[in-house]
Amino acid sequence: MNGKFPQHFLWGGAVAANQVEGAYQADGKGLSTSDLQPQGIFGAITPRMAGDSGIKDVAIDFYHRYPEDIALFAEMGFKCLRTSIAWTRIFPQGDEEMPNEAGLAFYDRLFDEMAKYGIQPLITLSHYEMPYGLVKHYGGWGDRRTIDFFERYARTVFERYKHKVKHWLTFNEINMSLHAPFTGVGLPQESDKSAVYQAIHHQLVASARAVKACHEIVPEGKIGNMLLGGILYPLSCKPEDLLETQRQNRDWLFFGDVQARGYYPAYMQRFFRENGIQVAITEEDRQTLCETIDFISFSYYMSGCVTADPAQFETARGNILDMVPNPHLASSEWGWQIDPIGLRYLLNVLYDRYQKPLFIVENGLGAKDRVEADGNINDDYRINYLNDHLVQVAEAIDDGVEVMGYTSWGPIDLVSASKAEMSKRYGFIHVDRDDAGNGSLERRRKKSFYWYRDVIHSNGASLKDRR
Ligand code: BG6
Repeated sequence: MNGKFPQHFLWGGAVAANQVEGAYQADGKGLSTSDLQPQGIFGAITPRMAGDSGIKDVAIDFYHRYPEDIALFAEMGFKCLRTSIAWTRIFPQGDEEMPNEAGLAFYDRLFDEMAKYGIQPLITLSHYEMPYGLVKHYGGWGDRRTIDFFERYARTVFERYKHKVKHWLTFNEINMSLHAPFTGVGLPQESDKSAVYQAIHHQLVASARAVKACHEIVPEGKIGNMLLGGILYPLSCKPEDLLETQRQNRDWLFFGDVQARGYYPAYMQRFFRENGIQVAITEEDRQTLCETIDFISFSYYMSGCVTADPAQFETARGNILDMVPNPHLASSEWGWQIDPIGLRYLLNVLYDRYQKPLFIVENGLGAKDRVEADGNINDDYRINYLNDHLVQVAEAIDDGVEVMGYTSWGPIDLVSASKAEMSKRYGFIHVDRDDAGNGSLERRRKKSFYWYRDVIHSNGASLKDRR
């Protein structure tokens, strides 16, 4: 490993409000789309009835236990913690004129607690949730008025926290709307492509408006986008496979192209035309989109392959998001293929494409952990996964890529997004809670806790090149 991490590299971890906070109705919070998906982001939409309960209602009770958790993050030496603001704590229905003071006060307390230890917040404005009120009364992001509601929310939190939060992200994994439209844009799962791309367009305009507002209100701050970095390789070197891979990578790079360059890329015209997709874009929208992000952030868990041969695709299918598995890679217990070199490759692809600083805001291994009789949790598999990915980050830095920081996903066990499981654990800190919601919620340090603490304290020098 030749690369060295920069002196002010932002080491830390990342969580999201709906996966950790719980307290889903506390202090005036409204129902969010996440509250209506007790089975996770691909699950059915379930109306909430009095007395119903779901795992996310309590999650890991971060809403009440954050001082203990922040102290543990500080013990590992975190420089940065990524979390999101639950929009519904601030605007419970989404269309109110005035914000909910109790919700704003919660995040003041949280950010003050982080400041005690010098941990910088990195805040996502919308992480896989929006006020259900906006879905019910306006049709979510399908309606242009949602742009104004989002801008009001963004301006409110920028004004309130401008002295406490300097790094912001707009929409978590904005490209996921293509696969989970209810989660991403508040549309029914079976919506047609025109409706989904229209809603996505509104969200891209809203993202650009938030960027503009952030630049006005927090001039010394930085605001980025957030992409699911689902890099795809051709399954073979057949030109057809290569072309299909380029096409499928553009499905998600499109979002970064608009947010980083400020306009729709040329290739989308043909894509829209050939798929019969109509998107209404006004001249004012085009002007708004010119307000571009300061940095690119992304999640990275796995890579996948693409083939142009439909027969092979059907038999090979099996990874998440219908990616064709790579025969050269091993998989996690959840079938996510482990590819540390893919992270170096992706960092280079994004830097070549955008020449903007990059921030890895999610990466990690979801695995089942065992608490030994002596209380220890020996998660060497997680240490190896993270070590090998960080070695590749160092290589990318040596390649010349500007990397601002790294926040591993789920530094404390939390509710998984895809299936709302507790048993899929990412943390350095174990939380005593099972999939049925049983457990004391007690926190316990895993072996990886001490490993990550050493990585941060040595600024990456303790990493081992195991190749
Ligand atoms: C990302 C999301 O897709 O992946 C997170 O931004 C999510 O919210 C993470 O938790 C891991 O996915 P999962 O399904 O294992 O929780």
